[in-house]
Amino acid sequence: MSTNVTWKGRWTFILAATGSAVGLGNIWKFPYITGEYGGGAFVLVYLACILLIGIPVMIAEIMVGRAGRSDPVHSMSKMGKAAGRSANWGAVGAIGILAGLMIMMFYSVVAGWALDYVAQSISGNYHQATTATIEQNFSLLLSDPSEQLIWHSMFCLITASIVAGGVTNGIGKSVDILMPILFGCLLLLLGYSWLNGDFSAGLHFMFDTDFSKLNSEAIIVAMGHAFFTLSLGMGAIMAYGAYFPGKTSIGKTVLTIAILDTVIALVAGMAMFPLVFANGLTPSQGPGLMFVTLPIAFSTMNGGQFFGTIFFALVSIAALSSSISLIEPGVAWLEKYGVKRPLSTFSLTGVAWLGGIACIYYGEVFDALDYITANIMLPLGGLLIAVFVGRILSRSTVAQEVGMGTGALFKSWWFVLRYLAPIGIILIFLNSLKLI
Ligand code: PHE
Repeated sequence: MSTNVTWKGRWTFILAATGSAVGLGNIWKFPYITGEYGGGAFVLVYLACILLIGIPVMIAEIMVGRAGRSDPVHSMSKMGKAAGRSANWGAVGAIGILAGLMIMMFYSVVAGWALDYVAQSISGNYHQATTATIEQNFSLLLSDPSEQLIWHSMFCLITASIVAGGVTNGIGKSVDILMPILFGCLLLLLGYSWLNGDFSAGLHFMFDTDFSKLNSEAIIVAMGHAFFTLSLGMGAIMAYGAYFPGKTSIGKTVLTIAILDTVIALVAGMAMFPLVFANGLTPSQGPGLMFVTLPIAFSTMNGGQFFGTIFFALVSIAALSSSISLIEPGVAWLEKYGVKRPLSTFSLTGVAWLGGIACIYYGEVFDALDYITANIMLPLGGLLIAVFVGRILSRSTVAQEVGMGTGALFKSWWFVLRYLAPIGIILIFLNSLKLI
């Protein structure tokens, strides 16, 4: 059975896929891992991975989704069979569904923190507070499981309600309006940080490339993050691709999404690091980076309470437009077995919710899920998708489905997908295992 639901148009697809891509990965995770892994050189490897691995794999994922017109498991098994190869390629989609749930477990906890900061902003909790108090606020939240549980549960509930409402209604509509406002807010913060932070120190930290800080762990984290931030390697973009309208060009669309995603991450970093240096904070302070630096900006800004509220609300919404895509592949898969959308949505989100509780109580579970999904499962999924499209499907099928013509554009993508991307992923894996 093929799906005949499609996005209203190419632009809604771009916004939904961008909604999936742009999330906590850009605003929370990118700045803090950049801080932990020493800045410039890490950013450079991350950008290279986006360009040479992320973009080609994203084109492949959307192509498989659009051609298969089904959930990731069925799309891949159907195309594998049609190519005269194994239907077992569907297993890649199944691992992706699992990865999505595992990501949702810690993602919803962090999104819960963002919701908590909406409440803190409204109540003026950090308004005109000292840096020390603002730092303490975040530690207090981390040491209060019941507070985290409330917001985590609320976030899961909102995610499930949207996914249960169906893709075009639930997901498509909300991203149209909200993503541009989020970007506007980030620019406002960038302006603040430019006027009040140590902007040049921030830029030097992010863009001076000191390769001595780059160890094999930093490289695999940079690659893992390229997958994470573009929502690749687990079927989210593939599932969305199933609703991609007709014959429109995939290449141009992917470029738009990747550029938007990257610019938003870089702007988030440029808004935060100048404040880190101007306030004597450490760039490597970990997951609390966003929750400490930005309240510092808001606490002294004119109208800071208002902007703080808006900003954390938008971060929560950006997280929401990503979390729905973490659940959607599993829901679309169960739909094929006749499980009703509301039932599958609430069951899958329920599993993620339970995992989230484990993350709240045990920091090690949080860290392990984050590490395993982003740095192992997503790159592995991406590798298998690249192999599937580049080496299992026939060149003529791919050329026809991807709709990029047969000229230089197609040829260069095909080359990167068959050679550069898979070899790159394998080398980075081997390097992180200390085998090379
Ligand atoms: N890309 C999202 C973010 O950066 C996270 C995500 C990963 C969403 C994988 C879907 C799939 O926040």
